Amino acid sequence: MTKGWTKSDWRAKPRIQMPDYPDRAALATVEAQLAKMPPLVFAGEARRLKKQLALAAEGKAFLLQGGDCAESFAEFSADNIRDTFRVMLQMAVVLTFAAKVPVIKVGRMAGQFAKPRSAPTEVIGGVEYPSYRGDIINGFEISQTARLPDPQRMLQAYTQASASLNLLRAFSTGGFADIHRVHSWTLGFAEHDKAERYRELSNRISDALDFMSAAGINAESAPSLATVDFYTSHEALLLEYEEALCRIDSITGQPVAGSGHMIWIGDRTRQPDGAHVEFCRGVLNPIGLKCGPTTTAEDLKVLMAKLNPENEPGRLTLIARFGAGKVGDHLPRLIRAVQDEGAKVLWSCDPMHGNTIKSSSGYKTRPFNSVLTEVREFFQIHQAEGTIPGGVHFEMTGRDVTECTGGLRAVSDEDLSSRYHTACDPRLNASQALELAFLVAEELTRQREAERRVAL
Ligand code: PEP
Ligand code: CO
Repeated sequence: MTKGWTKSDWRAKPRIQMPDYPDRAALATVEAQLAKMPPLVFAGEARRLKKQLALAAEGKAFLLQGGDCAESFAEFSADNIRDTFRVMLQMAVVLTFAAKVPVIKVGRMAGQFAKPRSAPTEVIGGVEYPSYRGDIINGFEISQTARLPDPQRMLQAYTQASASLNLLRAFSTGGFADIHRVHSWTLGFAEHDKAERYRELSNRISDALDFMSAAGINAESAPSLATVDFYTSHEALLLEYEEALCRIDSITGQPVAGSGHMIWIGDRTRQPDGAHVEFCRGVLNPIGLKCGPTTTAEDLKVLMAKLNPENEPGRLTLIARFGAGKVGDHLPRLIRAVQDEGAKVLWSCDPMHGNTIKSSSGYKTRPFNSVLTEVREFFQIHQAEGTIPGGVHFEMTGRDVTECTGGLRAVSDEDLSSRYHTACDPRLNASQALELAFLVAEELTRQREAERRVAL
């Protein structure tokens, strides 16, 4: 892909948001160990995902990306993985029905461990501690020792990621993902008193499935009804880990990040001459780029040229994260930058990171309505500009947590303390995530109807 690039070139570039490991020898040992491990994903899978994302950029597929803000060692369990996977499948069925195109399912899972922070240290009880940077780097516990960056944590993260992927692969093809089962869970949600608005769509999906069964289309005659493709993704923040898992694709001879199918560059580490862009530009995986309020058209043009010099479709997903009420201030200029360059990109909407507030009860939260408003603004602006809103990106969990406020089961500021488990940013719970999928489905239906009117 990129002539002359090597997986260590990022080391010569300015790096931010990465730990300084006090024990360099221990770091080198861990890097050498990881470099010998099998990759977690294979190049062929990353290439297949890239092809599917290329379709989403043209409106012929839709991207659903979601999962924890930060995976943690403490919350690691088969039940947690299963529950997040399950709600993503439910959301995908609802979105597929509305969009009438395949939904590409990408988890923020099996590698989403490292976190950028707003400050390198924090003061707790008058004492200054290094900030928590995610379980792959240091511990959440408040003590000077726990907060010291420990390279051994990379090995634990790798082991957890590989066990998570193993389970996700089994769930994807072993019968768990059968569309009839998945939809039966959604029917349970739509029975809720306040879910009337969603019942009609849910019943229409039931009718479509019944019709298909009557016509002899079932999991036996059409195995694709019982299996799914599920991909993994994370922010490529900890470059020692990324480099150690970088491999050469035997088919194309190109480097591939073996740590996950898709990796993205965060809003804080997207400096065009920085270490993170340097690493990501050389691997063949699909790359996500977070675009926030400070992303200028000029920066975006340079980044597109660096990250996708051949303008390969599906290579670059721009993940817009501006905040409700602000999409109109920023998205149009970035859409124009893309058009000026004739760049092929997939536009996705992250309505989480621009909508974090401190609740009256002191917890970091996100109001469900702000999340929904940002998604709607994203769709409206794309419609006005004649471009394609091709995906959504959520922080969510399959568990019944109380981290974001609102939704039909109405989590209030006072409820936040009851089940607030996130290791970092607040996530939508299972009910809020599925409700949001129904509301995004309404947007997709509106968009399809508008296209149909234009076509007539
Ligand atoms: C994230 O996705 O968890 C994140 C830190 O996002 P951003 O880089 O957009 O702030
Ligand atoms: Co986050």
